[in-house]
Amino acid sequence: MSTLTITTDAQAADATPLDPAPLDETPSVDAVAERIMSAALGWIDLMSIHVGSQLGWYRALAASGAQGLTADELAAVTASSPRYAREWLEQQAASGLLGVASDGSDESGAGESSTGDSGAEDHADEIGSGRRFRLDRATAEVLADGASLSFLEPLARMLAASGERMPEIIDAYRTGGGVSWERLGVHAREAQAEMNRPWFERMPGVLADVPGVHDVLSRPGARIADVGAGAGWSSIELAHAHPQLRVEGFDIDEPSVRLARENARAAGVADRVTFHLEDAARLADHGPFDAVFAFECLHDMPHPVTVLAAARAAVIPGGPVIVMDEATAEQFSPDADELERLLYGFSLFVCLPDGLSHPPSVGTGTVMRPSTLRSYAREAGWTDVEVVVPEFGLWRFYRLH
Ligand SMILES: C[S@@+](CC[C@H](N)C(=O)[O-])C[C@H]1O[C@@H](n2cnc3c(N)ncnc32)[C@H](O)[C@@H]1O
Repeated sequence: MSTLTITTDAQAADATPLDPAPLDETPSVDAVAERIMSAALGWIDLMSIHVGSQLGWYRALAASGAQGLTADELAAVTASSPRYAREWLEQQAASGLLGVASDGSDESGAGESSTGDSGAEDHADEIGSGRRFRLDRATAEVLADGASLSFLEPLARMLAASGERMPEIIDAYRTGGGVSWERLGVHAREAQAEMNRPWFERMPGVLADVPGVHDVLSRPGARIADVGAGAGWSSIELAHAHPQLRVEGFDIDEPSVRLARENARAAGVADRVTFHLEDAARLADHGPFDAVFAFECLHDMPHPVTVLAAARAAVIPGGPVIVMDEATAEQFSPDADELERLLYGFSLFVCLPDGLSHPPSVGTGTVMRPSTLRSYAREAGWTDVEVVVPEFGLWRFYRLH
């Protein structure tokens, strides 16, 4: 029996001189190095955003208004460490995410002491302790306003969640296994929910323009299914927009179902919006439904064809079945745009490991192209897939016929 020795690229860098085949058009070494340096700065931005957001630092800075906060003040109002607060504030200002309101620093170290720590730390705390930092309105909206369509803090949280699971992700890449949504944990689940929530608030207005959908949702006694409902915001917003509608959400992730139930209760719609811990493949057991929706989840499902067939069996004749999924390009291209690069990123670190965590799985990944959906739909017995909303945030809406 042969034994396979695994060498990482970093280990091999010492031993094996690299001599890859030259391509016709290659970038310069400097250009590649610059690109990686700027990627490192991007990672630092995201992780520092994650840290600041977890500690409530952006909200505290937003609340302080134009006056801003010193490191000591920030630490005091958020019950955190002044020394870390100062380093973070300086890093955020150095990176252009925060402004410096005024510079009351005393670089000689004669400023106010901020902690009871002693020695070198104490000295370090004193330097620049009077400097005030503030958050501008635009940055506050992007990093701390959960109602804004530009709220992007969850992007940092989602990637931090993947970072926590990196050894498992790398192991999955070796074995073909997966890392489930449950394993990706609370940060991934909540980041997903909070990132999409403001979009779901606006979604009923967009769906109203899709022929036939508004009529079905407004019909007295209508009952619809929302598969892969996650934290339930899509179901809740549809119920808000249509006061007579009953919505049933389905998800296989227990913490998501619990969260969705809590969210429905808090939103005051729990009498009309219920959530089942159930595989979407079993949808027909709960039908018939007047309409079926799948919001940003089909590409995560290990058996999308079975789910689309279940939707066909569960919906009333002529009832809309709507899939909202990523607005991918029609086909793969090496010169992809930023959206496509972002989607591949989600696929590498979130959706493909999640999808492959429930074998047997087709392993779709985030970059589910229209042609892939069409082939799944045909296999599930549908005849056509129509794009009914080409662009809505990162997504598009398809209707199955
Ligand atoms: C990316 S999240 C999307 C959640 C929500 N629709 C949203 O847009 O925020 C995908 C969801 O699909 C769920 N899911 C995956 N496979 C499923 C299946 N076979 N049946 C039901 N839910 C499933 C996951 O547990 C997860 O909550």
